[in-house]
Amino acid sequence: MSKNILRHLAIIMDGNGRWAKRRGLIRTKGHEKGADIIRDITQYCAEHKTIETLTLYAFSTENWKRPKYEVDFLMRLLDRWLKQELPTYHRFGARFETIGDIEGFSPKLQETIASIKAQTAHHTNLIQILALNYGSRSEIAKAASRLAKRGEEITEKSLGEELTTPYQDIDLLIRTSGEQRLSNFLLWQLSYSEFYFTKTLWPDFTTEELEGIINQYIDRDRRFGGV
Ligand code: IPE
Ligand code: IPE
Ligand code: MG
Repeated sequence: MSKNILRHLAIIMDGNGRWAKRRGLIRTKGHEKGADIIRDITQYCAEHKTIETLTLYAFSTENWKRPKYEVDFLMRLLDRWLKQELPTYHRFGARFETIGDIEGFSPKLQETIASIKAQTAHHTNLIQILALNYGSRSEIAKAASRLAKRGEEITEKSLGEELTTPYQDIDLLIRTSGEQRLSNFLLWQLSYSEFYFTKTLWPDFTTEELEGIINQYIDRDRRFGGV
């Protein structure tokens, strides 16, 4: 049996709040630690021979339901983190992209996002996509609505291409923290992906664990409906 190739890895980075709570810290400390982990994982993926795209779920359309102080903190953290990570993108040759409704963010944060995208657009080792204010049902509904408005036929191909993630299908999805659900993440793009759920909380996730998961993925039997 031939080995599976991993081109597109997606991760639901979950468990920051529980990580902090277990240490007697406020939830926001977990978000800070979680943000740091992204650098290691991005480096690993940029240096990996076959990974082309890393998509990370950072803020869902449902996360606005959280207390205002936590949402405000996450917005400030994202702004600070992006500016601070610019050298990281350059060092690892990673291009920064996003999916989700960025228009829902403050003009200042939108500006930072646009600026980091522009400054990293030439990098080719890895595309790192952050899902920000992202919800899959909304993404699909909006894509269908755009096609309908243009009077175009809605087919698997046209709808798939109209989504904001016209990158290659996801090969492997990892969710940390033990939860086994999608939480409105990439429903369309995950149709034939392999799933891996780990109990590790995101701030404790390591490249060693990632490597183990990838090695396990490589040997899985992906049949895509065939035999
Ligand atoms: C994931 O960690 C990060 C975001 C959703 C922003 P959580 O904040 O959901 O952590 P738990 O699930 O409460 O532990
Ligand atoms: C999903 O995690 C969203 C992100 C990781 C950004 P949540 O913690 O928000 O999901 P639920 O509420 O457990 O489904
Ligand atoms: Mg959570």
